[in-house]
Amino acid sequence: MEYAAVGFGPKDLRLPAEEVVAAVSAVGDAPTPFVCANVGLIGFDSGITPLYRIVERGGLKIGITAVLGDAELADIRNDLIATKPAAESLVEPAAALAKAGCDHQVLLAFASPEETKKLAARFPQFDFVVTAGGAEEPPAQPEKLPPHRAVPGAAPVERHLLELGHKGMFAVVIGLFDDPAQPIRAQRVPLDARWGEAEEMIRLLTSYQAQLETLGLAGLGLSPGRHPTGRRFAGSAACAECHKASFEVWTNSGHASALTTLENQTPRRDGDPECLSCHVVGWAPQKFQPYEGGFMGVSVTPQLAHQGCENCHGPAAAHASAERGQVRVPAADKERLRAELHLDIDTPPAKQRVVNNCLECHDLDNSPQFDFDEYWPQVEHSEPEESTAEPKPAAAAVAP
Ligand code: HEC
Ligand code: HEC
Ligand code: HEC
Ligand code: HEC
Repeated sequence: MEYAAVGFGPKDLRLPAEEVVAAVSAVGDAPTPFVCANVGLIGFDSGITPLYRIVERGGLKIGITAVLGDAELADIRNDLIATKPAAESLVEPAAALAKAGCDHQVLLAFASPEETKKLAARFPQFDFVVTAGGAEEPPAQPEKLPPHRAVPGAAPVERHLLELGHKGMFAVVIGLFDDPAQPIRAQRVPLDARWGEAEEMIRLLTSYQAQLETLGLAGLGLSPGRHPTGRRFAGSAACAECHKASFEVWTNSGHASALTTLENQTPRRDGDPECLSCHVVGWAPQKFQPYEGGFMGVSVTPQLAHQGCENCHGPAAAHASAERGQVRVPAADKERLRAELHLDIDTPPAKQRVVNNCLECHDLDNSPQFDFDEYWPQVEHSEPEESTAEPKPAAAAVAP
């Protein structure tokens, strides 16, 4: 990507230190783009990553340093990685950058906006301060920070706080212009389908997916958690014989081919927990983790493929066997098992529970257009009174 500077995130530093070192070390003549004032791989003296960097672009001299916030540092538990509080660590690089006569100074902070602003206030020489925290989407325009006067009487320098949003969904572009009327322009660019696919990224993704497949869900250490109800899953096909109308609606909805959608991706994503989570039965959508008895692969649990009935109604294996008469249960228990699956949208609190369930999967990243009142009619289902599997009252069999 020809990045001039890259800071660490706390998750990078969960890798064993030797893997981080291998990943960030300089290749050939180019220096490593990684820079960090308060993280020292194998100690600060190793010099594997510099404390700051000065680059020249378009005739401008730009000084850059990076820090991890104090909350993020607290998560690093690795004897080979030395750390320092963010503010303390900036003293040395800030002095060096000030002396170097940079046209602009950039601070990359993997920290909350609040902590980042404190650092910005303490080191006003940085005119672009970038926070990794903040909202999912960056604001349309960067926030202005109080201007800085390097020496009393000098012209104040404009300063900005840049939010980037989450998951690399946007690039924030700052243009520096030789135009006194508008020296700085900013644009928030969504990294959407306009940019096409990068061959190199597809190759990396393909090898990552192959790695996931080799490891398997068990190999990834995904140990199933208990479903809050303690019940077991049966799969949507097990409901078809009795709930024909509901099954028919479901079969014709996108929910019934959600796993196929993953199989059809290039590369296929049906072995990726970060996708399976909402596209199969029996996972905790936001935790990327299966429940006990949830989907574990098409060869193991084919009946739990796709986004099925039980992700909304809850596990229903006991209900299906009780109704089929495969297990004998007292009438009261049979009623209780039915009642546990009951959902309705007739009262605001009951409706809210249903909407919250939708939102577990139809979240901002994956379903930005979601609106219950528009989406529900597309999957709405009900059973005609007479079609339940209740034995018909004897009278009905007596034709006049
Ligand atoms: C052998 C027949 C049978 C099978 C199999 C069966 N059910 Fe039922 N189910 C019934 C009967 C009978 C009722 C009670 C009458 C009614 O409400 O339709 C019921 C009730 C329900 C209700 C409550 C309806 C309400 O009142 O809100 C839900 C939800 C439900 N079943 C879902 C499922 C799901 C999901 C499956 C598959 C895992 C399933 N059922 C399998 C027969 C069956
Ligand atoms: C467990 C995750 C999950 C839950 C819960 C969920 N959905 Fe979905 N939904 C999906 C996925 C995944 C797709 C995309 C399926 C595909 O095309 O691959 C989808 C697609 C849809 C679609 C697209 C139209 C279609 O059927 O082709 C509608 C409408 C929809 N869901 C409505 C809802 C509503 C309303 C709720 C709540 C009552 C809900 N969903 C709950 C995962 C979920
Ligand atoms: C948090 C739940 C969730 C996760 C995780 C998730 N999806 Fe989805 N996905 C959905 C929902 C919900 C929809 C339906 C969106 C809509 O129609 O509004 C959907 C729709 C899709 C669609 C469009 C289906 C169509 O043809 O209309 C594709 C493709 C897709 N997902 C692929 C993926 C991939 C690949 C991953 C993993 C990187 C993934 N999803 C992870 C919930 C999720
Ligand atoms: C996206 C979530 C979702 C999925 C998937 C889903 N349901 Fe439902 N289901 C609901 C909601 C919500 C209601 C309550 C609707 C209402 O109050 O009008 C409901 C109602 C029902 C009822 C009661 C209908 C009636 O006439 O009272 C039955 C039975 C039922 N579903 C069975 C199923 C079966 C079987 C499947 C799978 C083939 C299924 N549902 C899939 C959310 C879902």
